[in-house]
Amino acid sequence: MEDAATKTAIVVYSRSGHSRRIARKLAEALDAIVIELNAPAYKGAFGYMHAGFNSLKQSCALAPQKFDSLAKFGRLILCGPVWTSYPAIPLRGLLRSDIALPQSVSLFLTSGDSAPAVKAFKTAEADLGRPLTAKASLGNRDERTLKEDRKMGSFLKELEAANDDRHADPSFARLHAL
Ligand SMILES: Cc1cc2nc3c(=O)[nH]c(=O)nc-3n(C[C@H](O)[C@H](O)[C@H](O)COP(=O)(O)O)c2cc1C
Repeated sequence: MEDAATKTAIVVYSRSGHSRRIARKLAEALDAIVIELNAPAYKGAFGYMHAGFNSLKQSCALAPQKFDSLAKFGRLILCGPVWTSYPAIPLRGLLRSDIALPQSVSLFLTSGDSAPAVKAFKTAEADLGRPLTAKASLGNRDERTLKEDRKMGSFLKELEAANDDRHADPSFARLHAL
């Protein structure tokens, strides 16, 4: 059985299904496990308004989760929507929480807009306190098109390149020889 330290965890938040489909597709490509973030406050019509309001206020509380650490995984991919130009509040809540994360954290966002989610990536890196390993954003109208395949392909390449660098880095090899 594969050790958790070498496994990829995909933590997804999805209000209306776009990001969940992407998370499952990534999981298939990477043989990863998918963990859904618990965020009951944003369900239904009232939840929509609540989402927009909290996102604009940047009020990033995280509801209780089934896990208290994700550090046992080799790498983490967060997947979810853009809200008011930021990563959705449940994603930001996790990045800002004291839940331990692996060194490698990546972000795949879905959005209404097809333009790259530059502000959302900057915000996520500020919340995390360090650079993301790989990042991608996909507009709703580009879903299930060649653009989706291309974006997913370059995201996976970015991830693998970071993985190869880590293993080629002698300090990484030394650390793991201890
Ligand atoms: C409250 C709220 C705010 C949103 N703000 C933006 C935005 O600023 N820019 C954008 O491109 N899409 C925005 N969207 C659209 C979502 O990012 C997009 O539809 C996403 O794919 C939904 O993902 P999900 O189905 O996984 O929840 C917003 C959606 C919601 C609910």
